[in-house]
Amino acid sequence: PRPILLTRHGESKDNVRGRIGGDTILSEAGELYAKNFANFVEKRLKSEKTASIWTSTLQRTILTASPIVGFPKIQWRALDEIYAGVCDGMTYEEIKKNMPEEYESRRKDKLRYRYPRGESYLDVIQRLEPVIIELERQRAPVVVISHQAVLRALYAYFADKPLKEIPHIEVPLHTIIEIQMGVTGVQEKRYKLMD
Ligand code: G3H
Repeated sequence: PRPILLTRHGESKDNVRGRIGGDTILSEAGELYAKNFANFVEKRLKSEKTASIWTSTLQRTILTASPIVGFPKIQWRALDEIYAGVCDGMTYEEIKKNMPEEYESRRKDKLRYRYPRGESYLDVIQRLEPVIIELERQRAPVVVISHQAVLRALYAYFADKPLKEIPHIEVPLHTIIEIQMGVTGVQEKRYKLMD
């Protein structure tokens, strides 16, 4: 069996401010996670000859990968966070107050709701197809450092969760989800490195 390690980026400055989207750097806690995560990866993949680290093109995932040495890193635009279009950079409170109809439509159907000039979960699921094909094809371990909405979709694929649950799956910060792809199927372990 070979592992696929999934994690969100370390806490970002926008996470601290409650803003969605954006492209900020890590908070202090996020930087600490990046160091702890690098130690974890180093130990976990010590006996592996090859492995690769996949990030999105956003700073917060690239910075989370930066303390990891010795493995090639690949940036995928398809791993970027769900794009909130006109709501990018807003807080949920601001969306609720300034765009109540949008807020309500999303609440009613989070899977299909598409942000104005942005994406829906279904859009994200669709753009992940090439990533999933490549993950299936790999023989060596892969470390995926991405974002909440994207990891919900990836995790759902491996854990065989129904489409309608995807937008509600818990993928906490500073936690690693290890997927083991074996002949008998898929097994999962979780490691919480920090609060
Ligand atoms: O910044 C966006 C979040 O990671 C996605 O969360 O789809 O639950 O609003 P949400």
